[in-house]
Parts: sequence; structure tokens; C-alpha cells
Amino acid sequence: MKRLDGKSALITGAARGIGRGFAEAYIREGARVAIADINYDAAKETAQNIGDAAYPVQLDVSEQSSIDAAINTVVENAGKLDILINNAALFDAAETVDITRESYQKLYDVNVAGTLFTMQAVAKQMIKQGHGGKIINMASQAGRRGESLVLVYCSTKAAVISMTQSAGLNLIKHNINVNAIAPGVVNGEHWEHVDAMFAKLEGKKPGQKKAEVEAGVPAGRFAVPDDLTGMAIFLASSDSDYILSQTYNVDGGQWMS
Ligand SMILES: NC(=O)c1ccc[n+]([C@@H]2O[C@H](COP(=O)([O-])OP(=O)(O)OC[C@H]3O[C@@H](n4cnc5c(N)ncnc54)[C@H](O)[C@@H]3O)[C@@H](O)[C@H]2O)c1
Repeated sequence: MKRLDGKSALITGAARGIGRGFAEAYIREGARVAIADINYDAAKETAQNIGDAAYPVQLDVSEQSSIDAAINTVVENAGKLDILINNAALFDAAETVDITRESYQKLYDVNVAGTLFTMQAVAKQMIKQGHGGKIINMASQAGRRGESLVLVYCSTKAAVISMTQSAGLNLIKHNINVNAIAPGVVNGEHWEHVDAMFAKLEGKKPGQKKAEVEAGVPAGRFAVPDDLTGMAIFLASSDSDYILSQTYNVDGGQWMS
């Protein structure tokens, strides 16, 4: 018996990166997975590549009407919704004196409001269904401490950790477990973008920031998405029924060091 047999999962920002890795892992464990992304063409391509149990869904987590429509699509497609991974997020970096309201608003709309209102809409659906559910929010080690050039992103991830605590306490009466995962650094397109940003801000050569960061990871390397999938499966399975409001570091020891 696979651990997520018969389950219906919605993963936001699943067209690429960590979300795609989660989708592949959930499908291996028997789930049907909505690949929900603002980039619908990429979601379609990803769903086609990872097999029949995946299907694409158009979703902009910063728009309430889009969240509601995506949940309707999942229920139409799979008959129900058992698991949410709130994974979509944006990153930005700047000197504190150069942060713009535009960047602040964009990151808070997606990383904070998007996480909250997707969680809320999914929780309503799970309450209606009457048999509980699992919600996993993507935090970050960046939510546990400040970083000199990363004020806005770090603060959005601190908010994700805090929202996970409160929502977990509030929703457990409906047998909905809310927990979070805090990765360290995970290889993928996201980090190419981060490296390029730091190259500009700190005058580094392309690849230099990434190499410096990697050298500081106690496990000796960047994570790949599959390093996180064990935790994502555990938090979606009945093994975690007595766990709520927690944020688990899956970071190769980065936070501890
Ligand atoms: N990569 C890392 O090193 C790292 C470290 C810690 C935490 N995280 C967190 O893990 C999660 C996934 O990271 P990743 O590296 O795979 O990111 P990524 O940038 O590679 O992928 C994010 C996906 O979200 C989608 N997206 C963006 N805005 C959206 C919106 N408004 N609505 C729906 N989808 C949207 C993008 O199209 C993209 O497919 C994020 O929450 C990120 O903050 C990543």
C-alpha cells in the first residue's frame, strides 16, 4: 500500500522546482495531483511529463477569484481535496534603503496573502468534505533570521511560520493538520535567479554566491527537491496526524550551523 493512495493533492507553484519534485513524489505514493501555477503553459508541460495522475490548473495565488476557481477545478477533476502544499512564492533582494513598495507589495501578495487565502479556501473545502486534511506551507530558513539584503523575503517567510502556528491550532478541531517545511538552499532555476541578483548587488562573478553559500552548508551541498520529499510525504500522511503548527528544517544542517 502506498502512503497517499486515493488522495487528492493541490500543489501551488508546481510547474517547476521544489513544487514539481513534490508532485512527482506524491504521484509515486499514489496521489492524484493538481499542478497549479501562474504559468499555465509550464504547468501543462510539467503535468504531461510526470504522468496521468497529474493535471494542470491555472492559479494566481494573489487573486481570490483564481484561488476559488482552482479549488473548483480540483474538486471537479478529483472529486475532493485532501492535501495542499502552499509552495508558490517570489524572491527579491535589495539594500534596505533601496526596497520599493512595489517589491514589498508583490512579495506580500504572493508569499503571505497567497499562502493565507489559499490555505483558508482549501480549509473551507476540507471542512465541507468532513474528513479532515493536510496543509503544508513552504517556509524557509530565511524566515528564522534576517539576512542583510533579503529583508522583505525573510519577513514573508517569518509570517508563513507564524501563520502555520495559528492556523494549525485553529484548524485541528476539523482534523486538518497545518505544518510547514523550512528548506535551506535548494538547487533549481530559482537559485540561478538568486545568484544573478547577488552578483549585481555584491559585485560577484556569476556562480560565486552560489559556491560561497554551498561551502557553508554542513551537509556539503545544495539540496535537490528529492531531499525534501520525505518530509512532504510524512506531513501529508496519517503518520503525522498528531502533529500541528510545526515548521521542520530540512536544510542539511544550515540553520543549526
Ligand atoms: N530554492 C530554495 O533554495 C528555497 C529555499 C527555501 C525555501 N524555498 C521555498 O520553496 C518554495 C519553492 O521554491 P522554488 O525554488 O521551487 O521556486 P521557483 O521560483 O523555482 O518556483 C516557484 C513557482 O511558483 C510559481 N508562481 C509564482 N508566482 C505565483 C503565483 N502568484 N501563483 C501561482 N504560482 C506562482 C512560478 O511560476 C514557479 O513555477 C517557495 O515557497 C520558496 O520560497 C526555496
